[in-house]
Amino acid sequence: MNMIYPGSFDPITNGHLDIIRRAATLADTLYIAVMVNHSKSPMFSIEERVELIQQVTDDIDNVIVITFEGLLVNVFQTYPIEAIVKGLRAISDFEYEFQMAQINREMQPRAETLFMMTNPEWGYLSSSLVREIHGLGGKIDQFAPPLVVSAMNRKLEEK
Ligand code: COA
Repeated sequence: MNMIYPGSFDPITNGHLDIIRRAATLADTLYIAVMVNHSKSPMFSIEERVELIQQVTDDIDNVIVITFEGLLVNVFQTYPIEAIVKGLRAISDFEYEFQMAQINREMQPRAETLFMMTNPEWGYLSSSLVREIHGLGGKIDQFAPPLVVSAMNRKLEEK
């Protein structure tokens, strides 16, 4: 079964990587879709996010990184995908994800959503928290791969 793991990935964190590694063992091909979330103002461009994800998933053979704008369900018309994978971090994620899964299947009956429980180690993590800690001078090595930390350091220096 081919699956798609969508997200903003601004930037990719260890929590995302945990889901990616586990989903890749179940999927024939795992598409990672860097989506444009218009309600967020990003740190990294879409191209930069794609490059970072490609680099940190380089050792996983069945991962393909794509970008997609617009409705997630439209991806089913473009790629040979059977299911969406999402990670649940806490009960608080459930209501929103439940709503998204239902409405996506309403719009595209082939769009099944499969949920994986995020490793409790990363249950509190989010990209914006990592950005905030980094922006305020905190250490983020334990939250994101070294490549991502270096890219964030470069962004901060550019400012
Ligand atoms: N480990 C660590 N962090 C995680 C995580 C995990 N396993 N899973 C999620 N997160 C974090 C994300 O980094 C994100 O952090 P942020 O808010 O600081 O950026 C946060 O939890 C929320 O994740 P998610 O709900 O997956 O949001 P997202 O912005 O990454 O992705 C889209 C949301 C893009 C997949 C969704 O908005 C979408 O499908 N958009 C397309 C338009 C569409 O079809 N809309 C629906 C029509 S009703």
